[in-house]
Amino acid sequence: MAKPKVFVTRIIRDAGLTLVNDFCDAEVWQGDLPPSREVMLEKVRGVDGLLCLLTDRIDGELLDAAGSQLKVVSNHAVGFDNVVVPDATARRIPVGNTPGILTDATADFTFALLMSAARRVPEAERYLRAGKWKTWGPSILLGADFVNKTLGLVGFGRIGRAVAKRAAGFDMRVIYYDRDSAPEHGATPVDSLDQLLRESDFVSLHTPLNDSTRHMVNADFLGKMKSNAILVNTSRGPVVDQDALYQALKSNQIFAAALDVTDPEPLPMDSPLLTLENCVIAPHIASASEKTRDDMARLAANNLIAGLKGERLPHCVNPDVYNPK
Ligand code: GLV
Repeated sequence: MAKPKVFVTRIIRDAGLTLVNDFCDAEVWQGDLPPSREVMLEKVRGVDGLLCLLTDRIDGELLDAAGSQLKVVSNHAVGFDNVVVPDATARRIPVGNTPGILTDATADFTFALLMSAARRVPEAERYLRAGKWKTWGPSILLGADFVNKTLGLVGFGRIGRAVAKRAAGFDMRVIYYDRDSAPEHGATPVDSLDQLLRESDFVSLHTPLNDSTRHMVNADFLGKMKSNAILVNTSRGPVVDQDALYQALKSNQIFAAALDVTDPEPLPMDSPLLTLENCVIAPHIASASEKTRDDMARLAANNLIAGLKGERLPHCVNPDVYNPK
């Protein structure tokens, strides 16, 4: 029997690619950069399955370009704001994602960013490389402390909870704003975002991107943070209004920010954020550890293969497709 046809939009780790190639007749995009929209529309035509990345926009137009034989979309990410899920659900196409396995790597990196911004690590390295290190000095490059400081988590899902666990080891007080999550790891829920912003020395974002979180961090939000506070974003770039953040950092309204995600990605090299010493920026690498990326590739492949077999996906973001009204 002929193998199902699939398009894989980038070279993923062998741990997953081998599974895909064993089960499917796969075309794998070889470029370092994502396929253009035009290429995507052409490559998906006639495929039974699509394994895509967070850099690919998947919507009704693309699903229709694929054709009615398309059985599954497997997104190689836990976040799925790049997929217009209602468009997939309307066509009874299950969409897979990769939750759970990147929780620890992302929480680790959240802490790496938080500490980098608080202790000014990238700035200190720039200082050293620029030849400015002339002597040890009592007041050189002073940063923030962690012990007994308050970490406020906006969103207390898997990653937020894993960050709280790490913060407990630093003797931090942890509060969170999330109406749907029970306390864990000594973290305390607060009643309002305002209270969280008022009390936190560090504010870390762990929300998905959707209509209610887009530009949630705006001038009003930043204005309610403490003047020595640090903002960390490992969620999605558009959760933060970057113009407002630039103003807040430039005027030292808050102490610093550390971002793993930007809007757009990649961040243009003429972004004013890149002129600031108190803004640490990484190129969306929170889940970039070898084991995590192997696990993500494997899970994305397993979602794809389950969908091709007509089985329930191990992780499906639109389970409504299995219970049509
Ligand atoms: C990474 O940002 C992901 O959503 O997996």
